[in-house]
Order: sequence, then C-alpha cells, then structure tokens
Amino acid sequence: MNPLDAEPEARYAALSAMQRTCPVHQLPGGTGYMAVSYPAVAAGLRSINAFGGSAAQDGLPEEDTTIAGILEPRHLQIRRIINNVVSVHRSQQIGPYLAAFSRDLARAMIARVSEGSPTVEAMGAFVEPIPPAAMARLLGFPEADSARYYEWGAGLGVNIAKAVTAGQSMALRDAGPEMASYVEERIAQRRAMPAEEWPNDALTRFLTTEVDGERLSDRAVVTQIMFAIGAGSDTTRNTLGSMLRRLAADPDLYAEIVADRTLIEPAIEEALRVDSPAQFLVRRCLVPEFDLEGTQISSGDALFLSIGAANRDPEKYPDPVSYDLRRDKLRDHLAFGTGPHTCPGASLARLEMKIAINVWCDHVASFRLTDGYSWEHPRTGMLHGPARLFLDITPR
Ligand code: HEM
Repeated sequence: MNPLDAEPEARYAALSAMQRTCPVHQLPGGTGYMAVSYPAVAAGLRSINAFGGSAAQDGLPEEDTTIAGILEPRHLQIRRIINNVVSVHRSQQIGPYLAAFSRDLARAMIARVSEGSPTVEAMGAFVEPIPPAAMARLLGFPEADSARYYEWGAGLGVNIAKAVTAGQSMALRDAGPEMASYVEERIAQRRAMPAEEWPNDALTRFLTTEVDGERLSDRAVVTQIMFAIGAGSDTTRNTLGSMLRRLAADPDLYAEIVADRTLIEPAIEEALRVDSPAQFLVRRCLVPEFDLEGTQISSGDALFLSIGAANRDPEKYPDPVSYDLRRDKLRDHLAFGTGPHTCPGASLARLEMKIAINVWCDHVASFRLTDGYSWEHPRTGMLHGPARLFLDITPR
C-alpha cells in the first residue's frame, strides 16, 4: 500500500486505509510525515510559519526560488505582485479569446467525427491545447509557441525529481534551460519596445508592478513565469479531462447539464474535489516542534499534505467518491490549496473550464467512453487525471 502510488486506485486505497487510523502518519524509511484528513491538510497548508519551502528549492537565491518555495515574510510581499499579475478581473478579460479558441477546437473535432469514426481522443483534440493557450494569451506570448509548454513542463518535472532524489536543489532555469531562454527572449523583446507601447498583459505587469517600492528583477520574473506556466497547464488540463471522463460515464447527468448550464460550475468544483489534479504538496517543518492534529513534527521533517485524501475525507464528505453536484459548500475543497499560498490562478482555471464545457455542450449532443477504454494515468502519483480519453461522440 503506497500513498504516493502513480496508479490512482492503489493510491486512493492506501490513503483511505490511512484515514481510517490516524490523520497524520509517519512515512516508512524516515522520509517524513503525511497528513491525510481534511482538518490536518488544511491546518498544515495554513500554518505557513511552521511549514514552508518547496521541493529542490532549499538554499537557492530568492531570484531563483519559485513563489511556492519563498518563505514569509517575503512570500507575502512577492505574492502581492503575482496577485496583481493574474488578478480575477484581468483573467476574465481573456474570456472572449478563450471562447473562440475552444469553439475552433470543438468544430475541428466534430468535423473529424462527421467525416468518419465517432471515436475521438478528447485530450489531444479538445482539452490539451486550452490551458497553455490561456497562459500564452495572459502573458502576451505567441499562441503557436504554447504547444511546447507541456514538453517544457515535463522536462522541468523530470529534472527537479532527479534533484530531489539526489537531495539537491535546482533552479528552474537549470532544470529547463530552453524554456528559460525562451522567456528571457520575450522579456528582451518587450524591453526593446518604447514603454508607452507595452501592452497591458501579464508580462508587462510582471516587469512593472511595484510593491513597497520594489519590482522583481528580470531573473526573478523568468523564475515566476516558468513556474506559473508549469502550475497552470497540467492541472487545468487534468481537471477538464477528469470532468469529461465523469460525464462520459453518466449520460443522464450530462443531459441535465446541457439543459441547465448553471450546473457547470458545480460540475467543475466536484471534479476538482473528487479528482484533485495536484494530489499532494510537500513542505518542511520550520519550527522546533509542531503538533499537527496530535502528531509531533520536528524541525526539518518533510510534511506531505495529501490534497487528494483530504478532498475524499468521509468525515467531511459523505459518500466521498460519488460525483455529486448537489453537495453543500462545493467550493470548500482544497484542490487549490488554502491559506496565503492558495492558488492565484484559480479564477483563470475556473474560467477556462467553464468556457470549455459550455462550448462542449454546444457541440456534443451525447458522448460515452469508447468500449474497452481503460484509464491511462499520469506517470507520477503527484498528478491525477486522464492521460488520454477515448470517447464516442454524437454531434449536435
Ligand atoms: C485546475 C487548475 C489548478 C489547480 C488545481 C491548482 C492548484 C494549486 C495548488 C494546490 C497550489 C498550492 C497552494 C498552497 O500551497 O496552498 C497552487 C499554487 C499556485 N498556482 Fe495553481 N492550480 C491551478 C491552476 C493554476 C493556474 C492557471 C495558474 C497560473 C495563472 C496557477 C498558478 C499558481 C501559482 C503561481 C501558485 C503558487 C502560489 C503561492 O505559492 O503563493 N495555478 N495551485
């Protein structure tokens, strides 16, 4: 039983068994502790002075440390810059672009279905291009280049995982030199333009937002942009994919949503809860001793916070595995974290998903999982969602 298993059923079974005995467990081999109950995970996430840092970031200069790994009080200062860069109302401005982009994908997918087989691989045909295109639009980067974001993100993931295994720290610019050069070029291009011609996009806001008289250096902007692109792509992709997988398995629910589009928002929140795309976060204990729901954690100990388990805690969610759009307090889940590090991209992610599912409903009369489809999952237990999704589609 491995709570970090890449195979979702095995992982969730291990987490559920752990939940039945204790909210916080010591992991075998002295690798740290894991919080699995909703209250323990929420408390761990909110206790930012007791638990902080991020994998492979220890000891790096601040310019090379992602916002997730910067400790207080600096995190809150830099977070104010990031909040301005991806504020709710600014994210909403890319809505019309996203609607047109999603419609083009849906039309191309339906055209292929109309010409031949009803089966589509929906991740490639519809879901995957949307999150990177949204990030590119937000940043003011060329749309065509966004096709490379996943490959770059995967490269970062592999190299950071190697560093973690070797007990070393690694800056994102070293884990993804090609991606770093790409972002540096975008900054150089912007700096070559007269200031009055700079568009009001996230890149300009990254370079010009001042908090307490301070701006980020170009080197720090590269770090934060690389991190935001990584943080915003797979997560949103996986949630959209999980939602389509759930709806494919329940044609009556899909018909209900098509008839009453106000159900799209609950459908998104339930997908975030039951299929949380970021399954866990890892922090380090920064204080001599901390009592987390009855377990003593000491300075330097690693703390794994299982968002996946917390969001299926039966004490918090009756019948936690069912996809139930009529639950109370649907936004209470921890899929975006909680506390001062809470995901600043949540409103953008929700916007992307709401637009995409609306467009899907406009174009697809009904759909189901292709016969014999078996879930291909991500290669690590950190992410959750379908790698590929074969659907039989009936166009509207
Ligand atoms: C469904 C989509 C998404 C999910 C589930 C998700 C989830 C998360 C989670 C769990 C955290 C950690 C919160 C914590 O430590 O308490 C986080 C942080 C973060 N996310 Fe997201 N995210 C998503 C989309 C995005 C998008 C679209 C962006 C970019 C605009 C983004 C940018 C970030 C950043 C910059 C942080 C670090 C914040 C900090 O440490 O202060 N995320 N996200």
